[in-house]
Amino acid sequence: MNEKLLKNADACYRLAEQEAAHYFKSLSEQLVQNMVAPVLIKDIQSWKQNHIHPFPLLSIFSRGKGKTGSEGYHTYIQWLDYTGKLDNYLDRSISYIYMRDLGKALDSPDTQTRVQRTVDSLKNHLIDSNPKNPGSKLEMFTMAGMYRLAQKEGVESTMIWVMDKLKTVSSHIPEGMDAEEAKRKLIKIIAGVILHVVEEMDAEITPEERTRKLEEAIRLGYSYGLTYPFIDDLLDAGVLSNQEKKRYSDLIRSTLITGSVPELDQWTGKNAEFIRFAHSELRDAFEYIKSLQRPETRNSFFEQSYVFFNSQEVDRVKDLSNANYTNEELYIPVILKSSSSRLITRSVISAPEDEGFHNRTFLYGIYNQLADDFADMFDDLNEERVTPYTYYLKYHDKRSDLINPFELYWTVIYNLIHNVYRSDSKTREVILDRAINGLKRFKKRMGTNKYNEVMKLFASGNPTFNKVIQRMVRKADDVDFFDKLLRDHMITNLKSERKEQEAFLDTIETVRDQINDVLSISEIGNTSSMSEPIIDAANYSLKSDGKRLRPIMTWVMGVNEYGLDKSSIVPLLRSLEYMHTASLIFDDMPSQDNAPKRRGRPTLHQVYDVATAELTGLFLTQKAVEEQTSLDQYDPKTVLRLIRYSSQIVGDMCRGQAMDLDSRGKQLTLEQLNTMCFYKTGIAFEASLIMPAILAHATELEMEALKRFSRHAGIAFQIKDDLLDVEGDQNVLGKPIGKDAENNNTTFVSILGAIGARKAMWEHYCFAMETLQEIPRNTTFLKHLLNYLVNRDR
Ligand code: IPE
Ligand code: IPE
Ligand code: MG
Ligand code: MG
Ligand code: MG
Repeated sequence: MNEKLLKNADACYRLAEQEAAHYFKSLSEQLVQNMVAPVLIKDIQSWKQNHIHPFPLLSIFSRGKGKTGSEGYHTYIQWLDYTGKLDNYLDRSISYIYMRDLGKALDSPDTQTRVQRTVDSLKNHLIDSNPKNPGSKLEMFTMAGMYRLAQKEGVESTMIWVMDKLKTVSSHIPEGMDAEEAKRKLIKIIAGVILHVVEEMDAEITPEERTRKLEEAIRLGYSYGLTYPFIDDLLDAGVLSNQEKKRYSDLIRSTLITGSVPELDQWTGKNAEFIRFAHSELRDAFEYIKSLQRPETRNSFFEQSYVFFNSQEVDRVKDLSNANYTNEELYIPVILKSSSSRLITRSVISAPEDEGFHNRTFLYGIYNQLADDFADMFDDLNEERVTPYTYYLKYHDKRSDLINPFELYWTVIYNLIHNVYRSDSKTREVILDRAINGLKRFKKRMGTNKYNEVMKLFASGNPTFNKVIQRMVRKADDVDFFDKLLRDHMITNLKSERKEQEAFLDTIETVRDQINDVLSISEIGNTSSMSEPIIDAANYSLKSDGKRLRPIMTWVMGVNEYGLDKSSIVPLLRSLEYMHTASLIFDDMPSQDNAPKRRGRPTLHQVYDVATAELTGLFLTQKAVEEQTSLDQYDPKTVLRLIRYSSQIVGDMCRGQAMDLDSRGKQLTLEQLNTMCFYKTGIAFEASLIMPAILAHATELEMEALKRFSRHAGIAFQIKDDLLDVEGDQNVLGKPIGKDAENNNTTFVSILGAIGARKAMWEHYCFAMETLQEIPRNTTFLKHLLNYLVNRDR
């Protein structure tokens, strides 16, 4: 590594250390002077007016249902709204975010106006129940919710880009690390960068400029956010060997010092693939951030990043069995890492220098770190990580010189309220809300006994102060925060989505096996010695490797949701796959798409001949009806209704295929395109849901909702098929790619281009997600089916 650059980086770090040492010195002086507690007691006395309800009745009311937010995010927001607490709640939360993340001073009138504006728009979003507003019914952090938000700002393509990135990243996270946590952190960082960018926007910004800036912010956020899973968390986790860690962190260090990413030489062993992926993503990310840096800020960006990285490294190599760390050694890296992680966000977006921001953020960071380390102290202790709390827990008996981190924490609070923020009452309000809330959350998580134990250990030297705090933790209300609610909600959601998805994949695999077992057509009845090419041909097509999505849908909804008997619907499952397979046989014929491969094997007309293929297609459609007539456990009228419906469906599919062939080379409107795709593809998805619903005598209303869902899901499926025809891998797909272009077919891609097609797909995806709420059943399966349809690669 270049000596001069290394020296330079080192000098930067020393400078930052000096600034931190100076801050730490001033904090420890305030701490020993014993002046903090009396002032804070007074602060809390006036703060509590808003948080302790003098009338027991009122407090019983406010302790009512929904109070803690554990009943669910939506219920809690509704409850806040209902009790008139929502405005305050959001104001407290947004103010806090302005202070912590944006480094603002809350006593500035400009900041107050901005906070108010943000509160209003957030409130609108949260309690908007207008059914005409599509996004309003969706969870904010689901794919559909995020896509709807992106549409409002015109940043759909970038949103699609980042959603694909999140998916790839979490699929690459190695065992021993938490893929959901990686996703959550990335989303959080992206949101943080967007916040900064929006904050820097002029009021007169043009819509085009706003869109461009937002797109940049999403990409920058992702690029910077990657450093969490791929640097910080990776080096913290036990995934890499010590030697690998060293090599990896040298790579990062060299990048930050030289400003360019070194090549990744030979990396062997079980982590090689992941490291290659991380390296290539980080390189793209780094180059992207670098390309957007203004020359004036480029240096300071590299310096910031270096301080951020190095302070974490210094902290990471500490050893809990070393009994000799000084207070400075313990706290200075903590001050540095916690402040640089926030300072850097502004430098990532290449924002102009802002002294006030730097100062406030530099002094603020440790508040957060001490709060986090407090909350995690037992986990950290288990992992033998050195934090001010774990170190104090282990050595306070032997080392009377050690600073009590909890006392330091309150000193930081005191310093922030009175020195940094000039005793501003709003700041005091928000910081104390946060502090008391942190203790309440900890107590709730650990249980009262453990909490009391901890408090005894960390109690400050001032007994009155301790008593006041404990009283607040017991009695004070209205101290919770939206970002915490969101965090809990996201964690629960991401985890349950993951579990559901695993269950979904299990289900479709199991059901597919069952379906595969019953598809073959036997030659029973053939008494002559002549061979039966049609049955052989039909079985050739049926035995190949289809996904069986349509009968799987029928099985899961039929059995799990409508309670139909498994064995009773076997004929229906067969009939659906027979119809579908027939449609593929026809579709592949020279007169239509002229395709050489299907389901990984040569197409039927190639193996046999066109005439046999035609007859097999016809044979299978008729066989499908025959199967339906043997649904003998259902009453004949119902079965007749089903057959009538099914025959119409087959007719509609023929019409769809005809439209498809007729449209070759033509410029269809979007509406025509949707209609064509609905008939040729969507309708078979509809049939898979409607036929079991007919057998179960579902209501018309429910059938209508199912139809709306399947229309959008089916079209989204076909768009994905069109996209895969351009960018899929034919070995995975089992059918050739490029067929649509070769045939001059009119598809979503030919009309809208790949980017437009992708947008259209996500739009149908959102519509389908939104209709799920109208289906009066458990729709978990359908939700994951939809995810599967648009995310599949075969
Ligand atoms: C392919 O359907 C035909 C289209 C409607 C695009 P699938 O992709 O479900 O095909 P298989 O059954 O898995 O082969
Ligand atoms: C076919 O659409 C729709 C059917 C119902 C057969 P495609 O022609 O795009 O299907 P693939 O790509 O050949 O599977
Ligand atoms: Mg076709
Ligand atoms: Mg085709
Ligand atoms: Mg196709």
